[in-house]
Amino acid sequence: MIPIASPIIEDDEIQEVVKVLRSGFLAQGPKVEEFEKAFADYTNSRYAVATSSGTTALHVALLAAGVGKGDEVITTPFSFAATANAALYVGARPVFVDIDPQTYNINPEKIEDAITRDTKAIVVVHLYGQPAEMDHINDIGEDNELIVIEDAAQAHGALYHGRKVGSLADIACFSFYPTKNITTGEGGMITTDDEDIAHLARMIRSHGEGARYEHVLLGYNFRMTDIAAAIGIVQLKKLEKFNNRRIKNAEYLTENLEVLDYIKTPYVMDDAKHVFHQYTVRVKNREKWMEYLRGEGIGFGVYYPRPIYRQPLYKDLGFGASCPEAEKASREVLSLPVHPNLTMDDLDRIIDAVENFPV
Ligand SMILES: Cc1ncc(COP(=O)(O)O)c(C=O)c1O
Repeated sequence: MIPIASPIIEDDEIQEVVKVLRSGFLAQGPKVEEFEKAFADYTNSRYAVATSSGTTALHVALLAAGVGKGDEVITTPFSFAATANAALYVGARPVFVDIDPQTYNINPEKIEDAITRDTKAIVVVHLYGQPAEMDHINDIGEDNELIVIEDAAQAHGALYHGRKVGSLADIACFSFYPTKNITTGEGGMITTDDEDIAHLARMIRSHGEGARYEHVLLGYNFRMTDIAAAIGIVQLKKLEKFNNRRIKNAEYLTENLEVLDYIKTPYVMDDAKHVFHQYTVRVKNREKWMEYLRGEGIGFGVYYPRPIYRQPLYKDLGFGASCPEAEKASREVLSLPVHPNLTMDDLDRIIDAVENFPV
């Protein structure tokens, strides 16, 4: 079976974790600080604040940006639920705007129609590793005095017009879940150039403490451990290598599969570096594909089988929307393995299987 994801943990990550375990300093400490510095440098951001997950990074980012009860947050319905859940955590209302059918990212042309007096922020996702149209989105944010937040959970190292994701908007959030382009087990990171937001984010992640045992605002325990940070420091050094392998794998798949008229291979924007967190094609008759790939021993994923507003939770809360492109994509997308652990043999097996699909 060729798995859809396969985290790469080697001896150097293991040795660094063992050192932390031996040090006795297990919770947030010097390793977290070192990881934050390295991540801020890598993303060309002034500040980086580590958290316990990508979800808590989004939660903290919205709180630090002052988004709360009664506010509206414009976002994409075609993402992992955490993107929109973060708005719910802070008492805000997620407002879903349809996607561009080629990139699967929020369609900037449709954002302005969704802005109301209550809109406070736009949360964009760089889905599958491809940056959203940030120039257009930042212009809308600026014209309407909205905070723009990147959900970069799937796009560590991606470039937009030569600039790194994580430095393209007011705030960005990353995830280090094991399937992501780099991992810390569980973990997250906030990046920003805004000193006040960074300061607030640090307080919110640790019980609102200004000084030790002085709680100036309501915060949480959303801290990263030094154990996780030790893995992250090593993984970050390998990110370019991992991403380049993902890109090579994706190029090889596309070279071979783009001639087939029964699948649509991924579109890559001009002047962008798509880091292929997922290699996602469109197919008709997805159920048949899934059964077929299972039989061929090829892992796959469906990201995501329904727009977020069609989740039972969102229906119950009455956050409906009408996003035909997200609906269509959620019926047709199918992700094939592209991770850096694939061998040439694996890639050829995937290509063979797709070529021999009984149309
Ligand atoms: C787009 C997106 N946002 C947010 C998250 C949440 O990250 P985490 O699982 O680290 O909480 C994920 C991944 O799981 C994601 O893919």
